[in-house]
Amino acid sequence: MQNVLVTGGAGFIGSNFVRYLLEAEPQVEIVNLDALTYAGSLENLKDLPDPDRHKFIHGEIGDRSRIDQILRDHAIDTVIHFAAETHVDRSILGPAQFVETNIVGTFILLEAARHYWLVESALSSEVRFHHISTDEVFGSLGTNDPPFSENTPYAPNSPYAASKAASDHLVRSYGHTYGLPFSITNCSNNYGPYQFPEKLIPLMISNALKGLPLPIYGDGKQVRDWLYVEDHCQAIREVIKTGIPGETYIVGGNTQPTNLLVVTTLCEILDECLPNSAYLPHESLVTYVTDRPGHDRRYAMDISKISTDLGWTPRQSLAEGLLKTVEWYLEHQDWVDAIGNKEDYQDWLNRNYLTRGGEK
Ligand code: NAD
Ligand code: TYD
Repeated sequence: MQNVLVTGGAGFIGSNFVRYLLEAEPQVEIVNLDALTYAGSLENLKDLPDPDRHKFIHGEIGDRSRIDQILRDHAIDTVIHFAAETHVDRSILGPAQFVETNIVGTFILLEAARHYWLVESALSSEVRFHHISTDEVFGSLGTNDPPFSENTPYAPNSPYAASKAASDHLVRSYGHTYGLPFSITNCSNNYGPYQFPEKLIPLMISNALKGLPLPIYGDGKQVRDWLYVEDHCQAIREVIKTGIPGETYIVGGNTQPTNLLVVTTLCEILDECLPNSAYLPHESLVTYVTDRPGHDRRYAMDISKISTDLGWTPRQSLAEGLLKTVEWYLEHQDWVDAIGNKEDYQDWLNRNYLTRGGEK
């Protein structure tokens, strides 16, 4: 890993990863290609450590000639592919962009990497295409089902999950057919600094600070496996450095609370951090709304492969991680305001909330 192309590095996990990698790997040069959709922001890339080793390029993963140029100009040996449309609710209301970015975009990136590494340069042993994927490709677990493992069959339920599943299959096929050295991580729900406030945890914090309803979909008893974003970044680096090419690794947080427990815990933390808030107790803002169509009930992860083979386990407990996250959002109100002022954001939140039977 010397000259790295990160795609989607102005989004939540990608920007955390860029920051992390600049610190962890002092020799690495990073090219960060991001289309700056509603979910990406240069605000996420302020104050990078050693910024001279980071070059931001505003562009699309679907722009083949641009990708070809970037790979050549920067002699890229490692592609770490985060760029995607990522919000399940948006994929329900507008799936087309998910097909375009997550499937077609990944295909174009794979073609460019294959061509540059295997046709033009014959570099196959020193390169890696690392694909960032999700646990959602496996579908939903029943209460007593064993957790997802690398052997769980794919059964995606939302257009988002289906588009990520398709991209995983494409990546795998490029390894099998063309010998492209790849790895895939299927990770559970991330949380932490710089997460766009449409996902559960930052939305709840941001709404609670404004005294707005905290919308719980359905009965709130759905279960997610939560991982602090820095732990995910460490896992990705470990897989790229010591994981076996052609392998998939499940990454998760070993903690599976209900959505309701996550939200009430956030409310308790906010009550303690803001004893003079006008909205105490914050839990009184909890509002039950119509469930998400096709809502997956439960995710859980079996991380024995990555922990046994690569020695990675999550370091951050959920209690500490949630506290750190709330503190980060309280200290970065300017960031929340900059993101929240994006024209699309408030429109989207209102549309999504009204779709769920919420009242204005
Ligand atoms: P995000 O929505 O915060 O960021 C996505 C980034 O991709 C944005 O900066 C956006 O501008 C960029 N992007 C979108 N379309 C693009 C295109 N055509 N060309 C270039 N850039 C484009 O997403 P995230 O939560 O940081 O997720 C990153 C990756 O991790 C995704 O592949 C996602 O599927 C995966 N993942 C996310 C989670 C999670 O909990 N957030 C969990 C597991 C896996
Ligand atoms: P989300 O953060 O959208 O991630 P994903 O759907 O990819 O798991 O949602 C996490 C869980 O929280 C999911 O079960 C849906 C639920 N949820 C709510 O109950 N209310 C909300 O406002 C949001 C955004 C999510």
